Amino acid sequence: MVLCKMLGIPGEEVERFIKWSDDLALFMQDFVVSHVPSKEISEQVRGSVKEIYAYLSEAIAERRKDKKNDLLSRLISDTPGVDGELTDEQLIAQTMHLIFGGHKIPQFVLSNTLHLLFENKSVLDTLKQDKSLLSKALDETMRLEGPIQYIIRHAAEDIEIHGQQIKKNDSVYFFLASAGRDERVFENPNVMDINRTGFRHVAFGGGYHTCIAAAFARAEIVEILKEVLTRFPNIEALYDLEKPTWSSNPTFTGIAKMPVRY
Ligand code: HEM
Repeated sequence: MVLCKMLGIPGEEVERFIKWSDDLALFMQDFVVSHVPSKEISEQVRGSVKEIYAYLSEAIAERRKDKKNDLLSRLISDTPGVDGELTDEQLIAQTMHLIFGGHKIPQFVLSNTLHLLFENKSVLDTLKQDKSLLSKALDETMRLEGPIQYIIRHAAEDIEIHGQQIKKNDSVYFFLASAGRDERVFENPNVMDINRTGFRHVAFGGGYHTCIAAAFARAEIVEILKEVLTRFPNIEALYDLEKPTWSSNPTFTGIAKMPVRY
């Protein structure tokens, strides 16, 4: 709903929007782990992509005529492309990236955070008393269970990192999740400690492609957690904390199903 509002997609479209986002995520998850993308998944997703395309084409045409106070209008008017404004194709591609990045991944951050709080009852109790600590707690849960385990880059030239020779064009996997538990950087890396200072996790990536929405996602998730703890202070897990149902994909790592009582 937050993302729809930001983009300027009306509230009644939320259900459809969630289906599109889930389908894009399904395709991306399959694409990352399969050598040959599943035909079945591709067929299913093709329908959603066509719908998104049609929907956004119309929404963009409307805004080209009459700007609104939303991100889609801002992308149209504030972003000069190579030959002036972004084309419809570029706008649609960018918006699809936002839909896909902005829905499934924060969802996993939420479930992973709740899971860690169930596991660390004393932290959960502290947060119920003092919700101003939520943003520190979120940093810690993202360090421990970030949703994106690794990102990939391709070397532009021969380089050496930590004694490892990397040749031009080699693919390099940066394990953000492992960096979050690097014992050279974090004392007792496997322990949840919301009072850590000094070091930042890299769950939002780094460099040129650092998550474009890091500040937004952080604020969004903190607000949601605040509401959850205020409205459902007795929330508790109804699943085996030792065996949660993890998603099966390293680039979308999260608890896929977590029954709770509140
Ligand atoms: C807590 C939730 C989120 C996490 C952990 C996260 C993580 C990341 C990471 C690690 C990257 C870098 C990928 C790379 O370098 O290969 C990234 C990029 C990106 N994220 Fe996020 N993200 C989150 C939320 C969001 C949201 C809410 C949106 C959109 C509204 C979003 C949109 C994007 C986009 C567009 C990029 C690409 C930036 C670029 O290539 O320059 N993300 N994100």
